[in-house]
Amino acid sequence: MPPFYALLAFFSAFGIICTHAGSELESEKVDPCAVIGGKKWVAPSDVRACFSSFKVDQTIKRNILDVVGKTLAFHTSVNYEIKAPEPFTPFVHEDLFKDIARISKSSYASDYDLHIDVSRTLKRLNDGHCVWINACYDSAFLNFLPIPLALLTQDDGSQNVHIAPEAFKVASAEFADEISVWQDALPGVLKGKLESLSGAKVVLLNGKPPFDAVNANALITGSFQPLGTRQNSFFSSYALSTTTFSYSMGNFAQQSLPLDDSVELVIQRVNETTLHKITIPYRSRINPATVPFNSSATYKANNCVAVDGTNGVDLHAASLGSSTASKFQQAPVPSPSKKHKVNVMMDTAPLSDIALPPVLQPTAPALNGSFGGGAFFMQKDGKTGVLALGSFGGDDFDVMESGMLQGLQTLKELGATQLIVDVTNNGGGFICAAHWLHRIIVGPKSTTVPQAGLDTKARDGPLARLIVQELIDKNLDPDQELLYNPLNWNDANNVQFSATDNWLLPPVDLEINGHADAFSQRLGQECQPSGFDFTPPDVALFNPSNVVIVSNGRCASSCSLFSITMAKEEGVKTVVVGGKSNVKQEYCGTVGGQSTDFSTIDTEIKTTQLKNNSLAPPDLLVNGVQGITWRLGFGIVDTQQPEEWQDHPADLNLALTPDLVNNPVAIWEVVAAKLLA
Ligand SMILES: *[C@@H]1O[C@H](CO)[C@@H](O)[C@H](O)[C@H]1NC(C)=O
Ligand SMILES: *[C@@H]1O[C@H](CO)[C@@H](O)[C@H](O)[C@H]1NC(C)=O
Ligand SMILES: *[C@@H]1O[C@H](CO)[C@@H](O)[C@H](O)[C@H]1NC(C)=O
Ligand SMILES: *[C@@H]1O[C@H](CO)[C@@H](O)[C@H](O)[C@H]1NC(C)=O
Repeated sequence: MPPFYALLAFFSAFGIICTHAGSELESEKVDPCAVIGGKKWVAPSDVRACFSSFKVDQTIKRNILDVVGKTLAFHTSVNYEIKAPEPFTPFVHEDLFKDIARISKSSYASDYDLHIDVSRTLKRLNDGHCVWINACYDSAFLNFLPIPLALLTQDDGSQNVHIAPEAFKVASAEFADEISVWQDALPGVLKGKLESLSGAKVVLLNGKPPFDAVNANALITGSFQPLGTRQNSFFSSYALSTTTFSYSMGNFAQQSLPLDDSVELVIQRVNETTLHKITIPYRSRINPATVPFNSSATYKANNCVAVDGTNGVDLHAASLGSSTASKFQQAPVPSPSKKHKVNVMMDTAPLSDIALPPVLQPTAPALNGSFGGGAFFMQKDGKTGVLALGSFGGDDFDVMESGMLQGLQTLKELGATQLIVDVTNNGGGFICAAHWLHRIIVGPKSTTVPQAGLDTKARDGPLARLIVQELIDKNLDPDQELLYNPLNWNDANNVQFSATDNWLLPPVDLEINGHADAFSQRLGQECQPSGFDFTPPDVALFNPSNVVIVSNGRCASSCSLFSITMAKEEGVKTVVVGGKSNVKQEYCGTVGGQSTDFSTIDTEIKTTQLKNNSLAPPDLLVNGVQGITWRLGFGIVDTQQPEEWQDHPADLNLALTPDLVNNPVAIWEVVAAKLLA
């Protein structure tokens, strides 16, 4: 035994001065964050060691729970989410107040473990508007595998998990500086042959049927109520980002926390009968948004404490910058706009900037009218026009609105008589842009004028009521910048409230899942006429029976407002591409009505001088954000209940085959053949 260890054994044998010896060892240990500082690619275990080295600070823990708990008083859905109605009861049953009490009493080995519990607790709502994100951990490093997966269907209808056929094209382009690590990690005859894995069938994943891992991920991924949609998040997919398509790796090949170090697969390569067992390491890449660091202290100081935009401001003293929330919104809403309100979901993963391989991009150029997040294409059949719409917030509001009109008119001039709107991975954006698209496609009618979206209600808690009263009594919001300003809203008859009307009075009292709750009166729409910056045409551009909406089910927020009104009011057909054949596929989720977050609510509170109120959340001490649904849309079929938990079954579940997967043009051709003339 070397002398040093002998000495240790001596001390521990006598059970004395161990603390002293321990602390001396501590100071000799390498700083776990210094190990990963200044590097682009690191081992996930090293990221975990850094994250796990931060002990729980009770002041910060109380602060986070206090901010989350008090912000939830402004979230419309807390009591509904204790037990959602069918068909969502099995998927949404979370009592957040019990959770917060449980977390505050629990102890955690590290601040990272505490974060995982808080984050997953909120994610169990399966509501992409109501999530807790801490930039200290979430996506500070992204944990990658070079083998994104796809669920593929064979001619006989059987379904299997495969390594995506395009996996190597994606990985070799995106991870050129790391691919050799994975090449070298492959065993035996496969060494250096990563490309030959593309398309391989995955027989076992960590020794079990692959769907065990798909379903385990569905329990922690959050964002969408329907099971099918959360299963689909495991797999790769595409999204229109700028005017070209980006590639989403899926939760298997990209983790927003350093959860796994490697995966063991049993695979069968294309055209082979032999099975291979392989172990592939995850590798963690630093997010360009993570501020450089060289120690635990600098990691914390640069990435974990509140920054400008974490908390709100008193608008009398300061103006709004960009919020922490904007980094995690699933639509790149360009600039905060007091006029154009948004409904957008957030995720712990940022929007992907990985490119869909060129061979899978449309070869035809995007047509006139295309804008950031939206592109128009004419199909070879000469009659099917396509709007690929990756978000309702990818460009300035006016550019999007005029682009939508110009693009659809261009398609018609080119002979389009039918339209496919592809909203795959559309996480929402401007509410009035969704209303506008519905309105211009189907023309003026009772379902589009003046209300082309959903009526809504806000939560009517005591502090919200006080905010409205203070801003009225003291005329604190002359520039109409606050959400609670009555002038921003219309009643159920679409009549604007007056400047002195406390629109939260009287509250509508309800009992939801055994809890007393209160909401505002029913609100109408605010998009027409003044929220549309252009005059819409007075005729329909397309007949709704010639329109199809296509996605992978991951269409949320403003995308849900658009898809739901088009499907339920206009009879437009919906298609979900991919998914397990015996699991119901819903064409959207996370409906909400209008979303916001803690910092925005904090600005309302500070500007109305109510920060001292005991119901007001304190300033957040960490670099985090809590999202909420601020207005909740009423249903179309059941007009008195929220649309959020009403059914949205797709008309067609289009199975993904090897030639369709992640190939938008091929998918549009099949959809046109199956559902359009
Ligand atoms: C598999 O076999 C088919 C038919 O022979 C062939 O067209 C295809 O290129 C093969 N694929 C691979 C990856 O070997
Ligand atoms: C570590 O980073 C800090 C600033 O973040 C810098 O002042 C310091 O010199 C750096 N130390 C080393 C050893 O690079
Ligand atoms: C697109 O716009 C350009 C310039 O405005 C115009 O010359 C061209 O004809 C337009 N193309 C179509 C297909 O409308
Ligand atoms: C209320 O808040 C202000 C700052 O906004 C502070 O100066 C004042 O001391 C607080 N008053 C009470 C009673 O806490």
